[in-house]
Amino acid sequence: MQKAIKITENIYWIGGNDRETDLFEGLWTLPQGVSYNAYLINDDKTAIVDTIKSGNLSDYIERLTSVLPAGRTIDYLIVNHMEPDHSGSIRMLRHLYPEMKIIGNKKTVEMIDAFYNITENIIEVKEGDVLDLGHHKVTFAMIPMVHWPESMVTYDTTEKVLFSTDAFGGFSALEGGIFDDELDMVHYEYEILRYFANIVGRYSSPTQKAIAKVRALQPRIICPAHGPIHRTNPNHIVDLYDKWSRHDTDEGVVVVYGSMYGNTKFMTDAIARSISEAGIKDVFVHDVSRDNLSFMIADIWRYKGLVLGSCTYNTELYPPMATLCRSLSNKMMKNRILGICGSYSWSKGALAELQLFAEQSGDWTLIQPSVEVKSCPTEEDLDQCRLLGRNVAEAVKKHFK
Ligand code: FEO
Repeated sequence: MQKAIKITENIYWIGGNDRETDLFEGLWTLPQGVSYNAYLINDDKTAIVDTIKSGNLSDYIERLTSVLPAGRTIDYLIVNHMEPDHSGSIRMLRHLYPEMKIIGNKKTVEMIDAFYNITENIIEVKEGDVLDLGHHKVTFAMIPMVHWPESMVTYDTTEKVLFSTDAFGGFSALEGGIFDDELDMVHYEYEILRYFANIVGRYSSPTQKAIAKVRALQPRIICPAHGPIHRTNPNHIVDLYDKWSRHDTDEGVVVVYGSMYGNTKFMTDAIARSISEAGIKDVFVHDVSRDNLSFMIADIWRYKGLVLGSCTYNTELYPPMATLCRSLSNKMMKNRILGICGSYSWSKGALAELQLFAEQSGDWTLIQPSVEVKSCPTEEDLDQCRLLGRNVAEAVKKHFK
């Protein structure tokens, strides 16, 4: 039997680890799985914060019943967020505990009906409402669009524990430990960045509003819906989220190339080398055909500089590069320094589309020269690539001076 894990005297983790789903939302690779965190407050009244993806229900129920004696019921299910990785077991939980009241805000209530056809025994709450569980008093704060419009956080004012839904969460299953002091946080902070950049980052402006609310609450422990529980220094993860959602970056350059026969790669190799020679230590090169989009977006989110190089394919941008550019536009990234280059053989196309991407993406600074090569780069073409690399590196370094 799975066992609940104690967080405080009366608060437990009752989540599960999913190492079988390959793609989160059918898009984002999960090489080390993902955790779905849910929590139990075991007071005079019992309250659960969120359910779990339906495939992990047995872990959840075993952990839940490991705490509760036979016959003890669940009084409340608090629904912080309706995406089915957290709401997927609502119907089953209602079946097991028919008297249980479901708590959510106005938008949550509409979604519970739309997703699960449940309309009864629901309590609608607003910002600042208080739920009295006995010793524990919990309150609610709305954080719309972090990550869906109904997203809210639940705050246990008694023990200063924040149940923060997707905010501050990350990919990767929990490897035995569940707390930040039990885990390799270098790995988990990258996975939190990867989750932020791909899932939440588009909503950076709402995230800034959510951070202001969280800072005002001054939580002692932050319990997100994915990834580690932050009990050692909860402000650290709030600071990281603050930085990422302000589009504040680190000194470094990501180089992404799309190449069929190696000629564009030849160009971006020269660019990457010249960036390194100019003194930038963090240079990351991605093959757009082979590397998973989620890692490219995470790295691009983190660093100030980006170089995109693409061959032309059927008179247009190489399809995987077009997907990347479309994703970057959708994420509404700002304040990056960009260099572009492209190649063609019998019809131009790639560079013009990269140029359009640079113009339409708002706050990107396009560094010259943009380099376009016919078929295979000549030594003069490579000199232009090296000049582009140096100019990108200098622009990045200047930003951090
Ligand atoms: Fe973890 Fe937006 O769901």
